[in-house]
Amino acid sequence: MPHKIAPSLLSADFLNLQADIEMINNSEADWFHCDVMDGSFVPNISFGFPIIKQISVLAKKPLDVHLMIVNPDKYISQVKDAGAYMMNVHYEACTHLHRVVHAIKDAEMKAGVTLNPHTPVSLLEDILQDVDMVLLMTVNPGFGGQKFIEHSLTKVSRLKEMILKRNLNTLIEVDGGVTLETGKRLVDAGADVLVAGNTIFSDKNPAEMIHKLKSII
Ligand code: DX5
Ligand code: ZN
Repeated sequence: MPHKIAPSLLSADFLNLQADIEMINNSEADWFHCDVMDGSFVPNISFGFPIIKQISVLAKKPLDVHLMIVNPDKYISQVKDAGAYMMNVHYEACTHLHRVVHAIKDAEMKAGVTLNPHTPVSLLEDILQDVDMVLLMTVNPGFGGQKFIEHSLTKVSRLKEMILKRNLNTLIEVDGGVTLETGKRLVDAGADVLVAGNTIFSDKNPAEMIHKLKSII
């Protein structure tokens, strides 16, 4: 299956969000990536569920919601209500991750588990069979436009090996510092979904950049 592209709206123009949503609707992008930050789990605050709900009114592609917040389990019904297709929670934010993953599925969303750069993929051994996607942070979460962490490539390869060895369908998504150059190496290592914010929205032709990211082989 060709890799998916999920533009991160964090880098979109919030004074003209409708135009950016329509650009994504009409592009080769697969998902909308929505970053929720609480100023506690990460040192930044972005936007919350009312904004995502508004986005879902115009978005014609699935919403991939990335929660960089403490206690994400408290918000499962709100995330569902906001129109999410995929709910990503951080491994580091969930004491009872198995319970949270199953509650997300019970709410009829896909369940994603996100790892910070320092968290080893081996810690997923006993939950991998229950999750639809693993989101590997390839920068420290909190801000767009940061530099890609090289060691992420080793993590993608290791995780891909774990998935293939067990014959699972779990997707691998990568988030942070994705460019045409790092994107190619990530896809080669086994990434299924590329999130990109700065690379897409700082380009003078964002739809064309989405096309280029999608055309990576
Ligand atoms: C970072 C967010 C990312 C961010 C990626 O904490 O999770 O989704 O928007 O931005 P870029 O692609 O600019 O690194
Ligand atoms: Zn993200």
